Amino acid sequence: MGGPHISRTVADLRAQVKDWRRQGLGIAMVPTMGALHEGHLSLMREALSRADRCIVSIFVNPTQFAPTEDLDKYPRQLERDLERLAEVGVQLAFTPAPEEVYQKGFATKVVVGGPSAGLETDFRPHFFEGVATVVTKLFLQAAPDCAVFGEKDYQQLCVVRQLCRDLDIPVEIVGAPTVRDAHGLAMSSRNAYLDETGLAVARQLNKVLRNASAAIAGGADPETETTKAREALLDAGFRSVDYVAARESGTLAPWRAETEGRLLAAAWLGTTRLIDNVEIAART
Ligand code: PAJ
Repeated sequence: MGGPHISRTVADLRAQVKDWRRQGLGIAMVPTMGALHEGHLSLMREALSRADRCIVSIFVNPTQFAPTEDLDKYPRQLERDLERLAEVGVQLAFTPAPEEVYQKGFATKVVVGGPSAGLETDFRPHFFEGVATVVTKLFLQAAPDCAVFGEKDYQQLCVVRQLCRDLDIPVEIVGAPTVRDAHGLAMSSRNAYLDETGLAVARQLNKVLRNASAAIAGGADPETETTKAREALLDAGFRSVDYVAARESGTLAPWRAETEGRLLAAAWLGTTRLIDNVEIAART
């Protein structure tokens, strides 16, 4: 089994894509920051079920990290990542250096409104500008037919959908379900920062969200339930809670009982920030 073709430059990526297009092949893309786990691999399998070729970008995007965040510490393990791509059958890994993506004098930002308001933006104001800018660049560089994003980063998925709709970017955005460990903990590259005690606390996050979501779907008041969930997270051992919020699943506007919803949360465990979300079933 040969490994993926590795493109380190945009020119090389475009040459490969052009060749595939000449052969009439469909192309799917999975943007990642590497440190690949089962969650990422599930997106690649989904991509390969939809297209003849799958491109995975591995790029720790500096513009979506604030100076105080974990850019330097973010796990980088390219060799292992490439082995995982080979196992899944991905045909191309795009692994540009930061200077290839952000050339000297780079001065453009893509700013998405709508679903980017609130939640993550209240705590990481720069974040979605960084994501939207790099995703726009990746889509222009690779020009895939579709791209798969995880529901794990639910607000990001909504922002990318909005971005493509608003800018007429002809890439179909596919959302894929969150992959979890046996205890329900959403897989995340940042789980690598946690020891056994931390993992035990982290595993409470999805449980607390599932309980609150069931209560809300069953008729309980969302305000009361999100406040209770916040307290339950602190009792479980989280250091602080950025938000627990019930939102409409499409627009991320405050949830109303007659629509499908999403319960989203972000909380700190020591110096590690974890996010998760679960569905809120519409009340019948
Ligand atoms: P990263 O955190 O590496 O995630 C890459 C993709 O994997 C995202 O679409 C994310 O939602 C998905 N993912 C992560 N954990 C998952 C899980 N447990 N189950 C299912 N999918 C999961 O998200 C980013 O990178 C960056 O912001 C990026 C979009 C690449 C832009 O830089």
